[in-house]
Amino acid sequence: MTLDLFEKFNTTIENFNQLPSGELNPFTVVMDKVISPTEAIINGRKTILAGTNNYMGMTYNKQCMDAAIEALNTFGTGTTGSRVLNGTYNGHKKLEASLNDFYGTDHAIVFSTGYQANLGVIATIAGPKDYVVIDADSHASIYDGCAMGNATIVRFTHNDPENLEKRLARIRRKDPEAGILVVIEGVYSMLGDQAPIKELAEASKKHDAFVLVDEAHSIGVFGQTGRGVAQEQGVEHLVDFTIGTFSKSVGTVGGYCVSNHPKFDVLRLVCRPYVFTASLPPSVVASATKALELIKDSNLRVKLLENSMRLNKGLADAGFNMGTTGESPIAAIIIDEQNTAIAYWQMMMQEGVYVNLAVPPATPNGLNLMRCSLSAAHTFEQIDYMLEKFISVGKNLAVL
Ligand SMILES: Cc1ncc(COP(=O)(O)O)c(C=O)c1O
Repeated sequence: MTLDLFEKFNTTIENFNQLPSGELNPFTVVMDKVISPTEAIINGRKTILAGTNNYMGMTYNKQCMDAAIEALNTFGTGTTGSRVLNGTYNGHKKLEASLNDFYGTDHAIVFSTGYQANLGVIATIAGPKDYVVIDADSHASIYDGCAMGNATIVRFTHNDPENLEKRLARIRRKDPEAGILVVIEGVYSMLGDQAPIKELAEASKKHDAFVLVDEAHSIGVFGQTGRGVAQEQGVEHLVDFTIGTFSKSVGTVGGYCVSNHPKFDVLRLVCRPYVFTASLPPSVVASATKALELIKDSNLRVKLLENSMRLNKGLADAGFNMGTTGESPIAAIIIDEQNTAIAYWQMMMQEGVYVNLAVPPATPNGLNLMRCSLSAAHTFEQIDYMLEKFISVGKNLAVL
């Protein structure tokens, strides 16, 4: 008998098949036309985009688009090669120089996605003899990086410096010479809570561990010049590696890691997700470079956090059970039952508001979430419309 390799997915397939097909399936949304960073046509209906991580609205920034078009016309549609072969153009070098300028660091490496940046950096610097100590609520790319590097993985309680310290002390007692990498995120993507980087990094340094902070959801959003939560908290000197993505505030695609470690550039030779994949297209590189320049001096941060407070506070005041309230541009309503969450999502779509339906395993503690990510490009009018619809649908479903 031949065993079907897909048999292990039977439950997933059954669960998926129970969802309605077509426009009411939260996992098969198709954007027929995108009008702006905050509006699209979905199922023939004009819909407010309230869950796209487009924090600065950069996807339609004229200067970024012009830079991309110029690069497209000059260098073509793609590099068709790895960074270590034919895939490094002067744009890639310029973008890495811009990242060093943005962060005030010595070294910057650009990856093809943020996922690959985490995968590559964590797997390469924490090998079989090392330890990676990660927050329990870490993003999948962090977990996958740990698995790929074969380091010993130790999890600490989410955002809990005391628990981290306990775990590090135990590792050090057992293995005084071990290499240890502590991995945290600036802002946790599902609930939008910030990490206490100072306390976590100080605990790490006490035990001679390196600290990596993934600022995927905080670049552009926090800090005086948009470097992220570590800058906001004034603790960048405690961070050894900063990872980020171009797929959110920067409005395109790609990932990066910056560091002052003197040997950091060896990653260009030994990091498999950097070496064995094609580099970013020149147009993407050009728009990312322009967006970084704009983000650095932008006052969009103020507008973004104002927008976030307006939605978060409005939802909390209405009586919703919120993940956090206004610590970041993310607003997440906790819904007890998964079926109610699905119905909620569908009714919001029918009202012309797209949010993220976030369910396990993407969420911490098995939560079901109606997750919004605000943009500086949202108007107060759009936010008030979202609020009105969240409240009316919430009443309808007896969530409120
Ligand atoms: C915390 C975190 N790290 C990394 C990533 C991966 O970023 P990218 O979309 O560039 O692959 C994400 C994306 O969702 C994320 O939320």
